[in-house]
Amino acid sequence: MAILDVLTYPDPLLKQVAAPVTEFDSSLARLAEDLEQTMRAGPGGVGIAAPQVGVLLRVVIVDVSSRPGIPNHGRLVLVNPEIQRWKGMVKGREGCLSVPDFIGTVIRAEHITLQAQDIHGGTQQYQMQGYEARAVQHEVDHLDGLLFLDRLVSRHHDLKPRQS
Ligand code: NI
Repeated sequence: MAILDVLTYPDPLLKQVAAPVTEFDSSLARLAEDLEQTMRAGPGGVGIAAPQVGVLLRVVIVDVSSRPGIPNHGRLVLVNPEIQRWKGMVKGREGCLSVPDFIGTVIRAEHITLQAQDIHGGTQQYQMQGYEARAVQHEVDHLDGLLFLDRLVSRHHDLKPRQS
């Protein structure tokens, strides 16, 4: 396992659309392990997407279980994730390993239905809400070359320096 270098805004690789995973092999498993270790080494540490380490594949890790009192599915490796339904809208604060100095306020769906494959290629479906749904929407955006900066209604009102 390895902690990988995280690309930061405005690296052009963060604007690329990532390709679907077609090989569910040992290199995918290693990528997932390295992504998880890299995520846990960073501030916040609730999600990461492969393009953030320069790998343009549709793989994300989400784990919001460290946040107290919120519904969650624990540690998830989501391969080729697809959000199939969105319900409700809610504003909330987001950070990103690729935008390390800022926190943004972003509108996301409150409930989602998500379909994704696991690292063996099996298909799973999830009903998610609240902060976990927000984290998944943030990470899936990375696969389409979008950062939370692209979702701000107003940079003046919705972007604040991260208090460290
Ligand atoms: Ni991010």
